[in-house]
Parts: sequence; structure tokens; C-alpha cells
Amino acid sequence: MASPSRSVPLGAPLPPPRVPGAPYRVCLVCLGNICRSPMAESVLRAHIARAGLAAVVTLDSGGTGDWHVGEPMDAQARTALAGRGYDGSGHRARQFKDSWLSGHDLILAMDERNLAALRRMAGPADRDRIRLFGEVGGLGETGGGEGEIPDPYGGDEAEFGHVLDLLDAAAPVVAARLAELLGRPAAPA
Ligand code: 4NP
Repeated sequence: MASPSRSVPLGAPLPPPRVPGAPYRVCLVCLGNICRSPMAESVLRAHIARAGLAAVVTLDSGGTGDWHVGEPMDAQARTALAGRGYDGSGHRARQFKDSWLSGHDLILAMDERNLAALRRMAGPADRDRIRLFGEVGGLGETGGGEGEIPDPYGGDEAEFGHVLDLLDAAAPVVAARLAELLGRPAAPA
């Protein structure tokens, strides 16, 4: 059943740029900004580059909680990323501020809890810009936990591996949807 916080239907078009012609600003949000959203940032950044969008899409991330502000990425998250060729060493955690709402074109939450927290923070004009990362990335349609990326904090290697599997599946779809929105669809293979 659809969640009450999910006012945007599955497969809805991405929100248009606030400033046509300016870089499209995407923010990835989880709870602590030490596991899922910085992992998603690393994976999606690679797909954005591969899609030729590095000059027209900016990426950053934040957490709805403040416990880890200033800390590096969780060691297990960094290790899991490194195992797939990503470098998460430069990350420092930040808390999502309500002033960021108007400074982004698209805000992608990792799970329903963070989606709801962001939607509560936002006015009606910004609410449709807040979506689930996994839904935009097609996970909601393939049984991937209805589009949620589960919280791996304190979990084992398999849990972090599962998070990366979901991010690896969703990120190319998110990048392709951004390419389509920005009028730069990928050339046919
Ligand atoms: P994240 O994981 O939201 O994926 O960064 C968590 C990190 C820290 C906490 C919870 C989740 N915490 O409760 O401190």
C-alpha cells in the first residue's frame, strides 16, 4: 500500500530545474550521513560522470540527524565501497538544514523515515522535489523493499554489501533519468 508520506506517484517525472541552464543540484539524504547517503553519492557520482553529466549535475549529501556531524564515513561503509573501486575517504558528515531545501532541485531520501522528515521540513512548493532514491532508481517496481535503502549502521559485511547492491542497481537508472530530464539521453549502445 502507498505510504502516506509518498505524495508523488511511482515513475512521476523528475522535478524541472529551478534555474533553467544552471547545474541541476541533487542532494542525497539518510539519517547519519555516514553510511547510505555518502555511499550513494560515490556510486551515483560515477554514473553521472559515465553519462557525461558531470558538468550539469551537482551532488552532495546530508543526514537528518546531527550525531555524526564532521565525522568521516563509517569504516564499514568505506571498506564496502573500496571493495567495488570507490574512494569514500574524503567524506565528512553534515546535517541537512532546512535552508538546503530551496538550494536543491531534487532531494533523494534513502528511506521512508528520512523522506517523511524532509517532507515535514518542506513547504508545499518544495515537497514534490523530495523523493525516494530507490523509487527514482526503479527499485520500487522490482520488489527492492518498495524503494527503500535499509539502514546498515552497526550491521555486518553482508548488510553493507546489500546496500551497495541496491545502490549499484538504482544509480544508473537515476543517472539515465537525469540525462533524459536535462536533454542529454545516453547514446544508444
Ligand atoms: P546512515 O546510517 O543513516 O546510513 O548514515 C546511520 C548512521 C548513524 C546512525 C543511524 C544510521 N545513528 O543512529 O547514529
